[in-house]
Amino acid sequence: MTTAATPTMMAKENMSIQPQSPTPLLFEQSVSGASAVALPALDVPPVDRSQMLGAMLAEGDRPLPEVGELDLVRHYTRLAHRCFSIDENFYPLGSCTMKYNPRINERVAAMPGLAALHPYQNDADVQGMLELLFRLRTDLAEIAGLPEVTLQPAAGAHGEMTGLMIINAYHRDRGEVRPKVLAPDTAHGTNPASCTMCGKTYSQVPSLAGGHMDVDALAKMVDEETAALMITNPSTVGLFDSKFSEIAKILHDKGAMLYMDGANMNAMLGVTRPGDFGVDVMHYNTHKTFSTPHGCGGPGAGPVAVAEHLRPYLPKPQVVQHEDGTFAWDYDSPKSIGKVRSFYGQTGVLVRAYAYIRSLGNDGLVDVARKAVLNANYLAVRLKDAYKLPFDGPYAHEFIAVPEFEGVNEVDIAKRLLDSGIHPPTMSWPIAHCLMIEPTETESKATLDRFVDAMLAIADEAKNDPNHLKNAPHNTPIQRMDVVAANRKLDVRWKPTS
Ligand SMILES: Cc1ncc(COP(=O)(O)O)c(C=O)c1O
Repeated sequence: MTTAATPTMMAKENMSIQPQSPTPLLFEQSVSGASAVALPALDVPPVDRSQMLGAMLAEGDRPLPEVGELDLVRHYTRLAHRCFSIDENFYPLGSCTMKYNPRINERVAAMPGLAALHPYQNDADVQGMLELLFRLRTDLAEIAGLPEVTLQPAAGAHGEMTGLMIINAYHRDRGEVRPKVLAPDTAHGTNPASCTMCGKTYSQVPSLAGGHMDVDALAKMVDEETAALMITNPSTVGLFDSKFSEIAKILHDKGAMLYMDGANMNAMLGVTRPGDFGVDVMHYNTHKTFSTPHGCGGPGAGPVAVAEHLRPYLPKPQVVQHEDGTFAWDYDSPKSIGKVRSFYGQTGVLVRAYAYIRSLGNDGLVDVARKAVLNANYLAVRLKDAYKLPFDGPYAHEFIAVPEFEGVNEVDIAKRLLDSGIHPPTMSWPIAHCLMIEPTETESKATLDRFVDAMLAIADEAKNDPNHLKNAPHNTPIQRMDVVAANRKLDVRWKPTS
């Protein structure tokens, strides 16, 4: 067991990220006549470019940088090293699940037999890919405990929208008009956005002081106009909701559906199944749960799993296996909501998810869930005396910590963590002034201990040297930014000096 770091120890450790001299822009490195390409001699008749490009050249030649190949490579490599990445740094970004992506997934996804396919190829030519998608579809149905899955949606939010469209089609088919969707007040921001995209109204169900949704309040809100409750489990405050069967009954008694946002499935893989506790529809975030390099909007995939009564409304085409063992795209689905994604979805991401599931197997997936939960709870226990934990554990895959120090806020803590080479947790959401910490299952105890050491040293600094914190980060290429000016007066254009 590593001992907690003193602030002095931390200062030494902080050297992991060095202040660096500013990297000149490519424009500033430009040398007239330099070039990163050597084009062969012209073997077509020359043309007058001012005639071809007339208006574009009217203001004279554009001042594009002229840089040699080596300088170009060094420039981008230097910039790449300045980025935070999961391959270099601990990244406990709650809700977003930034976990290590095993290299085997990348190798499989890059295999030419999968990566170089064209979506217009005949089914007979792409049997391998179709079999993979069919098997993934079957695996995801098994993990969800629901009979059918569509792989089409291209992100978690897209899965939400698809799920709501399926619910809508089901109710419409029964002649029911249900414009309302409910969601707990801790819902991920994409949930209300998806409701709006589907033309539904959105109402918040309050949470109890302990962080769980108030089931009595829900019971009063559900009526014959309610299409669904969208609820994330485990929730964005890191709590597993054990009242799901009761919640499902309240909804089903009024003909409404239970939609589970399954973006946090890494906390329950193979341990429990949403279909077994009453869920009608759920989406996966394959890029979070089954690994894919992601962040800030993609790439992703949001497969949707549904109960039997919603099967007819799934998007088409669906990948199927014929009796002779061959695989095909099936368009014969008259009640389908149609296509929600061009071609066959984000196949690159889906291949990675399949490789991840198959390389881990049943026991490996259960291990993912156990370690995701164990790691979050370990951190919570070690930090609970220095930071306020507003909701009682045990936690699922993440937890909320609130810094309560005079004159120091969550942004200061986040910035100071950068000095230790640690990416800040998610901030200020889903409750004010909080840090949402998700270590994920992939981190070693040594890394978790290093994070605890940094957090405890920061807590110490918050009491004894708050100014140092307020001015953090100190060791990063760019120091504390004026975020308001960056937002209001953003100007990223390079202007020539002469
Ligand atoms: C709980 C939850 N729901 C939905 C989403 C949206 O997923 P995506 O970013 O793939 O659209 C996320 C993303 O992190 C999430 O954490």
